[in-house]
Amino acid sequence: MDYQGSALIGVQGQSPWPSLPVVDLEDNAMDWRGRKVLVTGGAGFLGSNLCHALAGRGARVVALDGFLFGGGANAANLDGADIELVRADIREVDLRPLCEGADVIFNLAAQTSHMGGQRDPLADIAVNAVAQVRLIQAAREAAPDTVVVHASTRQFYGRPLHLPVNEEHPVNPPDANGVSKFAGEQYWMIEHRTMNRPVVSLRLTNCYGPRLRIRDARQAFLGIWIRAVLEGRPFEVWGGEQLRDLTYVDDVTDAFLLAAETPACHGRIFNLGGSPPASLKQLADLVVQLGGPDASYTTREFPADRVRIDIGSYYADDRAFRAATGWAPRVSLEDGIQRSLEWFRPRLAMYL
Ligand SMILES: NC(=O)c1ccc[n+]([C@@H]2O[C@H](COP(=O)([O-])OP(=O)(O)OC[C@H]3O[C@@H](n4cnc5c(N)ncnc54)[C@H](O)[C@@H]3O)[C@@H](O)[C@H]2O)c1
Repeated sequence: MDYQGSALIGVQGQSPWPSLPVVDLEDNAMDWRGRKVLVTGGAGFLGSNLCHALAGRGARVVALDGFLFGGGANAANLDGADIELVRADIREVDLRPLCEGADVIFNLAAQTSHMGGQRDPLADIAVNAVAQVRLIQAAREAAPDTVVVHASTRQFYGRPLHLPVNEEHPVNPPDANGVSKFAGEQYWMIEHRTMNRPVVSLRLTNCYGPRLRIRDARQAFLGIWIRAVLEGRPFEVWGGEQLRDLTYVDDVTDAFLLAAETPACHGRIFNLGGSPPASLKQLADLVVQLGGPDASYTTREFPADRVRIDIGSYYADDRAFRAATGWAPRVSLEDGIQRSLEWFRPRLAMYL
């Protein structure tokens, strides 16, 4: 397939993988009722959305979160669902009682800021790698057979040598956070190989949607764009030509559930992509189109400190995950941005 050609189909385009079968996920869904599930990073952006989905399916959900590093943690993220929140730091807390009896551990706790990792690489690696080993050891004692789905990242591929990027692409971390996230993932995969634990690692691309941190640009450029639009201010686009394949959070949640539910995934690493690749400028145009009459943006050069760790254009080849699970993104970019704006509009004050 001439993917390079279809890369520029833009935000309204078709799926880049049209020939793959689309499976009705509901038909294959596992019965989560009564199952104990531990979600580390559970008060953060992706973790809290996952907690809501699991609670909605009747699981007994424990969200472990230290509310650290100015990340996505927000107590409001867990509002409205029956979720037990344990406020604790995975570097220090006794993790064994939390793991005990868990059917699945969704492991999303991380120091996620790239600039934060550059400023304080010791704290970064303490959470993203050393504390992962703590969790591995605790789970080995308390929950040796429990399935683990680990949140990994496309970041450590670095500046892509080719597009799209599949799982065979060389690893070349552009920053400290890329090194620590790669180390954390690899410790989990070693646990699979040596202890036979069912582990799945999902290398995520840029994700967005409800419960994203929108206060600033720490979590995602789209967060600060959404805030500016809702406050009636122009937002800034840095560069503009870089391609991204954003994943809407509900599609990320589906992927985590499927990864846990599908034995064929266990022991494997998968890229997870999303919508067809679009440039930052195309994304900005779409946000303006959906954001109402006052929405607008300006463009500027990438700040110098970010250029050094920028990965340029990226989009994933995630055919392996699609083939293993039948997953495909169900929310278009247009719908996802619309839904995000609508979700944040009445809740803006809680997220500033
Ligand atoms: N959101 C994305 O676009 C994206 C992209 C690639 C990878 N990921 C990965 O997905 C996972 C979740 O990311 P997110 O976007 O939801 O980020 P997030 O910051 O919203 O969530 C991470 C959570 O981990 C918590 N945490 C950090 N250190 C901790 C510690 N020592 N003890 C306990 N809790 C701690 C934070 O308080 C935060 O709530 C991370 O592992 C991240 O690397 C996310």
